[in-house]
Amino acid sequence: MVKFQDVTKKFGSISALEDVSFEVEAGEFVFITGPSGAGKTTLVRLLLRDITPDKGKILIEGKDIGGLKPRDLPYYRRKVGVVFQDFKLLFGRTVWENVALALEVAGEGENDGKRIKEALDEVGLLDRANLFPKQLAGGEQQRVVIARALVARPKLILADEPTGNLDPATARQIIELLDRQTKEDGTTVIMATHNENIVNSLKRRVILFRGGKIISDKKGAKYSE
Ligand SMILES: Nc1ncnc2c1ncn2[C@@H]1O[C@H](COP(=O)(O)OP(=O)(O)O)[C@@H](O)[C@H]1O
Ligand SMILES: [Mg+2]
Repeated sequence: MVKFQDVTKKFGSISALEDVSFEVEAGEFVFITGPSGAGKTTLVRLLLRDITPDKGKILIEGKDIGGLKPRDLPYYRRKVGVVFQDFKLLFGRTVWENVALALEVAGEGENDGKRIKEALDEVGLLDRANLFPKQLAGGEQQRVVIARALVARPKLILADEPTGNLDPATARQIIELLDRQTKEDGTTVIMATHNENIVNSLKRRVILFRGGKIISDKKGAKYSE
């Protein structure tokens, strides 16, 4: 599903990622861990094609995303579900409208009520559909973000510190929601996080980075292994 081939990304003289290679199968849940500055966000931004590598290739379903033309980019990005720490919900729109808009942006018609309903049901927020984000707790807002990421049924979900501002119980709920997608829909999830508790409790594949390099890559692993 996802393949990094000898990827190097520099910012000035700093190598944010250096000669990074790994592969992720469809339906896998992978944690990208490591201390601050390890290169986690850079990896996520490369996958979104927000930035491009200085060396190496990134393949998604066998296609080099470096070959995407500017006009292909919006289409590519719409096919990837994104869950970041700063929720970026539209606060002037209801929960339902926030999710509907994601579907519209994905070019799939915002009036597909059935899918919006399913996505909200999936995150347990159907009864909050007509509220505005400000009327929700932080964890509920993040669940709206997940509903928004799921509604277009992406094959790949990218998350960067999605539990950053949440208490441990709510964080755990969010992760389990995403984990369920891999099992039920075969969605691939790549999640950058330095939340050790979450990583340790889920026991999924962990790719540990330090200084832009892979230090270890283990299945069913704990944070520091
Ligand atoms: N836009 C940028 N400009 C300059 N340096 C950057 C930029 N983005 C990241 N870096 C540097 O690249 C390294 C990796 O950063 P990042 O990928 O954000 O790490 P992490 O998400 O693991 O904390 C850090 O040394 C960071 O300072
Ligand atoms: Mg980061």
